[in-house]
Amino acid sequence: MKPQELTQTSTKPPAIEMSGIRKSYRMGDEEVHALDGIDFRVDVGEFVAVVGASGSGKSTLMNIIGLLDEPDEGVYLLNGRNARSLSDGESAAIRNRTIGFVFQDFSLLPTMNAFENVRLPLLYRGMHPKEASEKAMEHLDLVGLESRAHHLPTQLSGGQQQRVAIARALAGDPQVLLADEPTGALDSKTSEEVMQLLEKSNKSGQTIVFITHNPDLALRTGRTVSISDGKIREGAI
Ligand SMILES: Nc1ncnc2c1ncn2[C@@H]1O[C@H](COP(=O)(O)OP(=O)(O)OP(=O)(O)O)[C@@H](O)[C@H]1O
Ligand SMILES: [Mg+2]
Repeated sequence: MKPQELTQTSTKPPAIEMSGIRKSYRMGDEEVHALDGIDFRVDVGEFVAVVGASGSGKSTLMNIIGLLDEPDEGVYLLNGRNARSLSDGESAAIRNRTIGFVFQDFSLLPTMNAFENVRLPLLYRGMHPKEASEKAMEHLDLVGLESRAHHLPTQLSGGQQQRVAIARALAGDPQVLLADEPTGALDSKTSEEVMQLLEKSNKSGQTIVFITHNPDLALRTGRTVSISDGKIREGAI
């Protein structure tokens, strides 16, 4: 590595830097402390697995990282910028251009077919329709769904919907990929293919936060953190 590159790498702020993040939900008289003082840092280019029991706060954390929700307390810096200082328009632009999100419940638009679901965020960011269409098909192909491009979500199996969600997140070549159990609905062969896609994206420089219940997949990332009692710690439980 040339000295100049070394300097550039070392001065880059972390992709994600959180300190003292708290988030509670009130349900009637009861308050659930989903996140209770999270300190979490992910450097640019890292591949980090997040594990933890059901209800431990993984999706809550992911939604805050992805600017879909705000913490009650704490500081969150995304690429060195304080999330609180972002206007709604800036947050929306970052979600569209910088972050790719594979939602646990897929969150596909029900009235659009697989192809249109993958293409829409590309059109939103102003990509030429022809290029957006090509990219959408290319990514459906990558997840093995080119023959299902014109199916609506209701005409797809759970695993196929999950793969559309993965194609949608990857098509925009996001700097940071947030994947909430992206292999949860997949058989072992398809799950392996998706894992290889994530590994390839990470090798080409993408930062990935990957929630999983699968310890074998977690072991293949660079680092695993676990959440329990609203806190995060290094290593699997
Ligand atoms: N919108 C909400 N309103 C009230 N409580 C919520 C809400 N979202 C999450 N919670 C609660 O916060 C806690 C953390 O939920 P979260 O969805 O983050 O868990 P998780 O680790 O992603 O679980 P899973 O592995 O089942 O997906 C749970 O106790 C849940 O019931
Ligand atoms: Mg979850």
